[in-house]
Amino acid sequence: MLALGRVRIELSGGYHLSGVRESDREAHVRLLADGAIAAFIPAIPQPYTEESADRWVRHRIEFTKGCVEICFAIRDPEGRMLGSVGVDDLKVGKAHNGELGYWLAPAACGHGLATEAVRAFIPYAFGELGLERLTAHTIHFNERSIRVLQKNGFAPEGRLRRFTRTATGLHDLLVFGLLRDPRVGTLDCGCLQPGP
Ligand SMILES: CC(C)(COP(=O)(O)OP(=O)(O)OC[C@H]1O[C@@H](n2cnc3c(N)ncnc32)[C@H](O)[C@@H]1OP(=O)(O)O)[C@@H](O)C(=O)NCCC(=O)NCCS
Repeated sequence: MLALGRVRIELSGGYHLSGVRESDREAHVRLLADGAIAAFIPAIPQPYTEESADRWVRHRIEFTKGCVEICFAIRDPEGRMLGSVGVDDLKVGKAHNGELGYWLAPAACGHGLATEAVRAFIPYAFGELGLERLTAHTIHFNERSIRVLQKNGFAPEGRLRRFTRTATGLHDLLVFGLLRDPRVGTLDCGCLQPGP
């Protein structure tokens, strides 16, 4: 049994995943305020203010008071928050599907850290959280995110045309899935092809 809210998952080189804490507010505002990350994740409010960060941090801390952690901060060896990986709020023990999300500070990108963070989260999701599948949605031109999913074995499952509105317009959304049972294999429905 995991201690409520107190999980640490080791990555290479001292990097690690651990729960969001009060001291992460400043990093949230610094990393999310310029809109570069939110351009790929419409659910992140813009403008991203101290109140936005406060709401998120308080929500996460409250959630983990009654439940095991489902959404982690990605941290450097000194514990500084560089990003996030996890699933949207769900009822642990009841839900079978988790909606995976992740983001990383631009300065930390390009070194495989996001891929490693997702790779470390997967066994946690299928083991500790008891999920049967992970679902990920990504805007069709988000090539780095698509690579992260491909490298972690996610299969393309569909394309929702003009599904997502961002500041630059309406965009197709790609759906990816990973099943707990590796014997089920992968699915190739050709949905990574450019849309009309
Ligand atoms: C998506 C994100 C987390 C990836 O972080 P990252 O540190 O670059 O990821 P990694 O280094 O682990 O892997 C990135 C892969 O994309 C590749 N890549 C980088 N730029 C690319 C481009 N323009 N086109 C295609 N592939 C590209 C890299 O080469 C690497 O693949 P490889 O290991 O096969 O060489 C980060 O870019 C991010 O936070 N983006 C904004 C938020 C976001 O999009 N979140 C996901 C929402 S679904």
